[in-house]
Amino acid sequence: MLLSRSLVVLVSAISGIVAAQNNSYLTVTSLVTNAQNNSALECWKFTTPLTTPSTPGISGSMLYAFNLSTANQYTMIPARFDGGVHNAPAPQFVYFTSGLAHISLLHGDDEAWILGGVNGLIFAGDTTGTGHATTYPSDQATVALALPVEGGKPPPYAVLHQGPCEHGATQIVSGA
Ligand SMILES: *[C@@H]1O[C@H](CO)[C@@H](O)[C@H](O)[C@H]1NC(C)=O
Ligand SMILES: *[C@@H]1O[C@H](CO)[C@@H](O)[C@H](O)[C@H]1NC(C)=O
Ligand SMILES: *[C@@H]1O[C@H](CO)[C@@H](O)[C@H](O)[C@H]1NC(C)=O
Repeated sequence: MLLSRSLVVLVSAISGIVAAQNNSYLTVTSLVTNAQNNSALECWKFTTPLTTPSTPGISGSMLYAFNLSTANQYTMIPARFDGGVHNAPAPQFVYFTSGLAHISLLHGDDEAWILGGVNGLIFAGDTTGTGHATTYPSDQATVALALPVEGGKPPPYAVLHQGPCEHGATQIVSGA
């Protein structure tokens, strides 16, 4: 709750500040509902470049701003938890800050392993269709922030490819 509120505050605090554009983009593995009405995995790049804020405290860092609905959730998921088959409750970012999440599909071989931490941000938009299964197989609890987007619409994005992203050291990529 506290974490999620601070994130919203940070996002709204910087929204009014003019910042230099940075030729870097945020990528996320995304859950979508495909034409066959099945959940599928895609790798997305948000097409708005990151900026370099001059805001005190984060000056010179890389920033990506997005708008959230007012209701966000902090979830503490126990070690070795089986979340079962489900749809996204609302189009939302999910930030896994710790632990490990394994996402698999009912139709299709794609799967995603999301390690909590620096590359822990995904987008879950499969609110309809056959859904996906999520398990948390590690011995560590998974702290997840569920961050529904304002108006149910993800920020502008391009599909880089089908299947999950294969992030290197960071979800941020350089270049157009
Ligand atoms: C984007 O920001 C990073 C981190 O401050 C910096 O290393 C990089 O040079 C910047 N790129 C551009 C094109 O400004
Ligand atoms: C967030 O909302 C503000 C105010 O409505 C708007 O100006 C801004 O473009 C929005 N940003 C995004 C990324 O949707
Ligand atoms: C897709 O699945 C939902 C159930 O999740 C169902 O209500 C809907 O009718 C289905 N649409 C199509 C086109 O099959």
